[in-house]
Amino acid sequence: MNLAVFASGSGSNFQAIAQAIAADKLKARLCVVISNAATAGIHERAKQYSVPSFTLNPRDFTEEAVYVQKLMNILQQYHVDFIALAGYLRKIPTPVLSAFPNRILNIHPSLLPAFGGKGMYGHRVHEAVLAHGVRWTGATVHLVDSEYDTGPIVLQEPVPVRQHDTPETLAARVLFKEHRLFPEALQLFVEQRVHITEQRTTIIDGPLPRGYHRPKT
Ligand code: GRF
Repeated sequence: MNLAVFASGSGSNFQAIAQAIAADKLKARLCVVISNAATAGIHERAKQYSVPSFTLNPRDFTEEAVYVQKLMNILQQYHVDFIALAGYLRKIPTPVLSAFPNRILNIHPSLLPAFGGKGMYGHRVHEAVLAHGVRWTGATVHLVDSEYDTGPIVLQEPVPVRQHDTPETLAARVLFKEHRLFPEALQLFVEQRVHITEQRTTIIDGPLPRGYHRPKT
């Protein structure tokens, strides 16, 4: 798997992916990082792992087609065949979605479909979780389609909400889970163990990730 990571923030999920690769738990190669923000922490982390990183902000382009072409050129130049969105706050353009069918994963810090959708990112997610008084939240890795947070779910893991949680304490507990879940989901694709039918995925063959039960047939 030749992986590109798209990120707008600190890049701790990028680092978790890089560490999983170094530990041989994820059989992938980190080819390139793309961010919409020049100041994002991800660039520094990419440098630490000697992964080239680029800033490409669709808002800097008057013509969407020019932006898309630049993006596609980078992906081709680095022979990317799979994309991981790790805190990436821009929509993926349709031509990129078409070029990577079922080859783009996103991580979201809640149990989707709850607390997802447009505008639901970062601390806003955890603030909404606390405001609703739900007892469980979690992390979700899902395939990316043309909407926000709606693609087929691949892996999910619950995280308890504690009585005195703040958005910060909750975010940290969820992020800890994310760091294991994202590399694990990517490795399932490396092993070609994700069977996709319309909105649902099934994990086939081999050992199942924690908390999964194979349905009886
Ligand atoms: C994570 O919580 C992820 O779920 C969300 O954005 C955050 C990115 O964190 N989509 P980091 O930049 O990987 O530290």
